Amino acid sequence: MVQTVLGIVGGSGLYDIPGLDNAEWRHVDSPWGRPSDDILFAEIDGLPIRFLPRHGRGHKVSPSHINYRANIDALKRAGVTDLVSVSACGSLKEELPPGHFVIVDQFIDRTFAREKSFFGAGCVAHVSVAEPVSPLLADAIEAAARAEGVPTTRGGTYLVMEGPQFSTKAESELYRSWGCSVIGMTNMPEAKLAREAELCYATLAMVTDYDCWHDEHAHVDVASVIAVMKDNTAKAQRLVLNLAKSMPKEHPACPIGSDKALDVAIITPPEA
Ligand code: ADE
Repeated sequence: MVQTVLGIVGGSGLYDIPGLDNAEWRHVDSPWGRPSDDILFAEIDGLPIRFLPRHGRGHKVSPSHINYRANIDALKRAGVTDLVSVSACGSLKEELPPGHFVIVDQFIDRTFAREKSFFGAGCVAHVSVAEPVSPLLADAIEAAARAEGVPTTRGGTYLVMEGPQFSTKAESELYRSWGCSVIGMTNMPEAKLAREAELCYATLAMVTDYDCWHDEHAHVDVASVIAVMKDNTAKAQRLVLNLAKSMPKEHPACPIGSDKALDVAIITPPEA
């Protein structure tokens, strides 16, 4: 049997949850370099939890400077089977106001200044990311959100931009015309690397603003994001507690094969 280990990668403060047992920050070494921070090892109701602050404690690492490979590798080494990416984002749709959560099911990757694969030097692999989100994990997040009364939409496309500047209006309108739901700077290559690491992955996108397209709302700035984040973090903490208490202790096989993605992905022959 494979034991479920729930990983959470998200903003600083999220890990400050009352009710964590045996909590301890541990450094996890990675051959891919330095992860954003140590990992908080803990348990909730007997379920092992691993928190990694994506930007480091104190928010010191920008989206373009995050070592996504080291983060995913360290979480894998810490035993994570299921990774929830808790992420602040802007809304590209009227019906997704600040304070709303979206369990996205697709991504558009517009990042260009990041290392995106564990493969390439000596071993070549091409994993499928047609379905980047693991449905059982998304189901569990949705159930936890509903149980906690958090306003949540299931499904949607997350546009991942490079940043660090926010978008121009023309870009924001372009992404709206593509039908995207939310915009953020962090979920790629995180989701692709999670698939290469055979982790089940799902995103809880927490809307903080209407980006810059909405005539009746001010253009996004850091102050407005932070103002909404406090409330969003409190809701996300409740949701994570509920999620941890309801997840099966034995990890179920992923119906889309996230947990064995490399079985059909490596092209370099073993003897090469
Ligand atoms: N994070 C939070 N709001 C955002 C926005 N509007 N664009 C990109 N990243 C964000």
